[in-house]
Amino acid sequence: MSLNRRRFIAASAASAAMSVLPLSALGNVLSEDNNLSWLKRFHDAKTKKPWLSAYQSVSSDSFSSQAQIEGKWPQDLTGTLYRNGPARHEIGDFRYQHWFDGDGMLQAFRMTSKGVFHQGKMIQTQKYLAENAAGRALYPGFGTVPPNPAPVTSADLVNVGNISVLPHNGKLLALWEAGSPWDMDPETLETKGLHSFSAETKGVPFSAHPRVENDGTLWNFGYASSANLIVLWHIDKNGKPVKVGTIPCDPMSMPHDFIVTSKHIVLMMPPLNYKREHASSFLDAHHWQENQATRVLVVDKNDFSQYKWLELPSQWVFHFGNGWEDASGVIRFDGARSEDPMIMISSFRDIMKGEVSESSHSRHHQYRIDTKSWTISEEPLFAAHIQTEFPAIDPRVSCVRNRRLVMMSNNDKTPAVHPNLNEVCSFDLESGLRDAYRYPDSQMPEEHLFVAKPGSALESQGWVVGTAHDWQKQTTLLNVFDVEAVSAGPIATATLPYALPLGLHGKFVAS
Ligand SMILES: [Fe+2]
Repeated sequence: MSLNRRRFIAASAASAAMSVLPLSALGNVLSEDNNLSWLKRFHDAKTKKPWLSAYQSVSSDSFSSQAQIEGKWPQDLTGTLYRNGPARHEIGDFRYQHWFDGDGMLQAFRMTSKGVFHQGKMIQTQKYLAENAAGRALYPGFGTVPPNPAPVTSADLVNVGNISVLPHNGKLLALWEAGSPWDMDPETLETKGLHSFSAETKGVPFSAHPRVENDGTLWNFGYASSANLIVLWHIDKNGKPVKVGTIPCDPMSMPHDFIVTSKHIVLMMPPLNYKREHASSFLDAHHWQENQATRVLVVDKNDFSQYKWLELPSQWVFHFGNGWEDASGVIRFDGARSEDPMIMISSFRDIMKGEVSESSHSRHHQYRIDTKSWTISEEPLFAAHIQTEFPAIDPRVSCVRNRRLVMMSNNDKTPAVHPNLNEVCSFDLESGLRDAYRYPDSQMPEEHLFVAKPGSALESQGWVVGTAHDWQKQTTLLNVFDVEAVSAGPIATATLPYALPLGLHGKFVAS
């Protein structure tokens, strides 16, 4: 159970390096879908589908501007919204072949009494610097293998740090899924380098969705596919590892998020099985086995050697909202459940060549684990025509009982001209009321967060804060809603003089 760092580093490198096959093995990919044609196809498609600007490559490696404010910005909404996401999708005449391969850009929306100031900077990863110097794509990514790929000797060599951010212990970390966090300057957004929590854990995978309890205690997982190992992290509020352990998992899947309660860690392992043979990218090494169960790992927070495996019908949850546990030992958690992850994952490949494929359908479910009988059950939270993703909570109730969820959603009966989710909503788990605002078709919203009003009771007063790409006006917006009246629309909007590509996750730091 103890961490074998050498084994992890070797396995992580192997997981990344497996992407590098001889060009002959990629013959079909390169002859049918040569790299230049992905670039051309995307830009040709954008003339007919202008909303594809949400997936175009960033126009510069840094941005800064004061935003123009409309409406009344709440006086006590001050702080910084940090966001991360794939932003550079092209280098030279090469376009990445999966949205998740884009090099990461860190953004800060600084909200003060003087207004909103925006900064954005490309994360200066080893890969980004090396490819800039070479003037071409060098390394395989999550779903892309460029021509004549260079060898991958460690996962962090191809770590694009493009998924999320973690403010913790005064630090700001940019997170990827299969490697180390990137240490970022919270003021200048400069890249300081790879971060390790200790010498022993240097290079050990640290996933993009850590859970932070209200006292600053940090939990996370990582995985090394080639070693069939899950790693679990317990880090104190000062950023020091308390314990780091491993649990065997065979077959390995591709878990993206997890939940933590007062006593347990829960990881869902869908049957998206990792098989190294005959794969041209890390993504292509995963195979959906729809007839197999989804395994659910429940681990004792205090002793990583104590765990149980449970089973659910085949399913995939990309993001969870929150998990908590009552006095009788019943765990409850929620997540955006889909029947088949490959629809969603493939759609993010197709969008890179300007194609809209079948959209995935994720329907929010609530789960219940009885830790006395070790049984698990699930039930949907919404009608089948309501899709959801990017669940968020008041961070002060992380890992304890929550009543409210803020989510991006979609009503299948009112589709937009673009294929993305077009609503933001607040959902009351106790009353069952969903309060949603539908964005205009010209705006493509990203993740929205719950920001508590200073001094307010838990999950009571506050705001929903989130960004959107306006493809008609070619701007990026930061919207603020009253969490008690989301359907009334934004109470204030900060508009940037430029449009940024869609990103992934963010965190708000109050000032
Ligand atoms: Fe995520």
